Amino acid sequence: MYTNQKAHQKNVIHMDPYEIIKEYYSESSSLYKCLILHSEKVAQKALSCAKNVDVDQTFIREAALMHDIGIYLTYAPKISCYGNLPYIFHGYLGMRLLEQKGLYRHAQVCVRHVGVGLTIEDIEERNLPLPKMDMQPETLEEQIICYADKFFSKSENNVEKTIDQILWELSHYNEKSIEKFMKWHQCFGVSVSKSKAP
Ligand SMILES: [Fe+2]
Repeated sequence: MYTNQKAHQKNVIHMDPYEIIKEYYSESSSLYKCLILHSEKVAQKALSCAKNVDVDQTFIREAALMHDIGIYLTYAPKISCYGNLPYIFHGYLGMRLLEQKGLYRHAQVCVRHVGVGLTIEDIEERNLPLPKMDMQPETLEEQIICYADKFFSKSENNVEKTIDQILWELSHYNEKSIEKFMKWHQCFGVSVSKSKAP
């Protein structure tokens, strides 16, 4: 498990995320196109949220582009993924792929972006088939990417969701998820679709 994040943050590694993605996805496949469209939308949104925040913008772009790199190993036929593992594994699998490349800081974004970040409690309560580890975003960069990702769904054509839609989806989990998202929304929520007045 990755334990030395601060040390790696000092040794910043930059690379071309598209080249890395192409190592695992055929450029002509519908899955590649779907992944790139989603990842670019998330990266764009994350960068707009990060505009007035003191964060590493280059890292945000790179990590947002690669946050879903693990999806091809999961089974989600709706978006042309025909791997063996449940879709909820995609963050963890993405982490493993990027760790193998020495991209430990980017790897943390993969594992910590699912939902609003899974806690060990979430994994146990929902009986999720995941390793029992804390998968919550910690750094501002991780939080911004996780927040931005909630606005776009690959299975819904990546049309930007409203806050109401996101809150409705999160309400299927628990109150804590809504609270966490709203906290991020207050910090990062710039130029987002407005909720309707009650
Ligand atoms: Fe995503």
